[in-house]
Amino acid sequence: MDKMWAGRFSKALDKEADDFNSSIHFDSRMYKQDITGSMVHAMMLSNQGIITKAEYADILNGLSGILKDIESGKLPVDMEAEDIHMFVEAELTKRIGDNGKKLHTARSRNDQVALDIRLYLRDECEEIGGLLLKLIAVIKDKANENKDAIMPGYTHLQRAQPITFAHHLLAYAMMFKRDFERINDAVKRMNFSPIGSCALAGTTYNTDRAFEAERLGFDGIMMNSIDGVSDRDFCIELMSAYATVMMHLSRFSEEIILWSSWEFKFVELDDSYTTGSSIMPQKKNPDMAELVRGKTGRVYGDLMALLTTLKGLPLAYNKDMQEDKEAIFDAVDTVKKCLSIFAPMVATMKALKDNMYSAAQRGFINATDLADYLVKKGMPFRTAYKQVGTLVGYCVENGTVLDDIPLEKYKEYSELFDRDLYNEISLETCVAKRISAGSTGYESVNEQIDYIARFLNEKGIH
Ligand code: ARG
Repeated sequence: MDKMWAGRFSKALDKEADDFNSSIHFDSRMYKQDITGSMVHAMMLSNQGIITKAEYADILNGLSGILKDIESGKLPVDMEAEDIHMFVEAELTKRIGDNGKKLHTARSRNDQVALDIRLYLRDECEEIGGLLLKLIAVIKDKANENKDAIMPGYTHLQRAQPITFAHHLLAYAMMFKRDFERINDAVKRMNFSPIGSCALAGTTYNTDRAFEAERLGFDGIMMNSIDGVSDRDFCIELMSAYATVMMHLSRFSEEIILWSSWEFKFVELDDSYTTGSSIMPQKKNPDMAELVRGKTGRVYGDLMALLTTLKGLPLAYNKDMQEDKEAIFDAVDTVKKCLSIFAPMVATMKALKDNMYSAAQRGFINATDLADYLVKKGMPFRTAYKQVGTLVGYCVENGTVLDDIPLEKYKEYSELFDRDLYNEISLETCVAKRISAGSTGYESVNEQIDYIARFLNEKGIH
């Protein structure tokens, strides 16, 4: 295909160099944003008297036809084109003749691509936000079903204190809620229009950038045309937010993988989200969770790739920047796929409450509560802590647990011990007694569920 910029050259581009230079294989997915941007640009040109009303009508008509035909599959994107911008413009000229050649007045591909990526990411963030809300809703419902499920809470992956499964799940709901907000914050910062920056220095035409910005749903224009075409920090910010989503998903995945092992058996994943082994008949593998954990590395890699591409890059546009798209697209695709699979996997996951309960039972998970018991009877916390430590040592030596030591034995350690201690250190009491805000106590967990439900309601999820 003849290059639009061919005028200055006496020789065609080498075939391999042409392929190397081309971005159509990956940027064709922005066709809709590209056409939308062009429609508004043409409208502005016409409003400003830079092109005539008739020329505008012609261009608009041509662009609508192209959009419709790409969407219906009638017009395949030509993979010989250099990029999506060139393809649309060439197709327009093919359809409407010379008027098509007027579209690119007061514009450059540099501001055009900067615009397209923003429009594209705004759409994708809307979708990713929706998927995050769905996942948060699933977690909230799971938590609601498991308010009574007592399990060990861990630090250092050692049993620490009893919590409810609901409380544990809600921690993730809070993280994903912040992820949702983080993405929206980045979108707010991204939502300024670069179009009209042109190649880098602006233009001699009397354009109306504010009009274009408003029409395209931006909150304003980018105030510096060099920044308008050079900046990709919005991509980095969003990818960092996506990487954080993946980090949260991978922690959750890791726990689901552990919980569904025979050693834990806290949950059972639904058959539809597990796979078998080609050799071991007993296996039920948590592949989806493992893949999500694995794909986290990809998204981190995408972020690193873009940071590295932009490092030390002089202003303004450089072709290096064409590399931004594959990284962003891969990150977007990966996050979307992972969120879509994760929500139903969690929704169909069964909590094995009895196993959780017994895992919490035969350890020393109530040791803190026994120390608190002594504190309430007047002993300073540090002394009580030491006292209970000695008792745990006694249990370990004698193969018993705090719940089974007879009262007479307790009395040898401290006169403050009484019959009520057994109730005080039962798992149910340990949980119920936790009255501080945000704690595992029943009232606090209900408050957390309400908090998440209110957030979801505000976002239109009921
Ligand atoms: N395909 C290019 C990209 O993705 C479009 C911008 C080209 N601009 C240029 N001056 N060659 O970055």
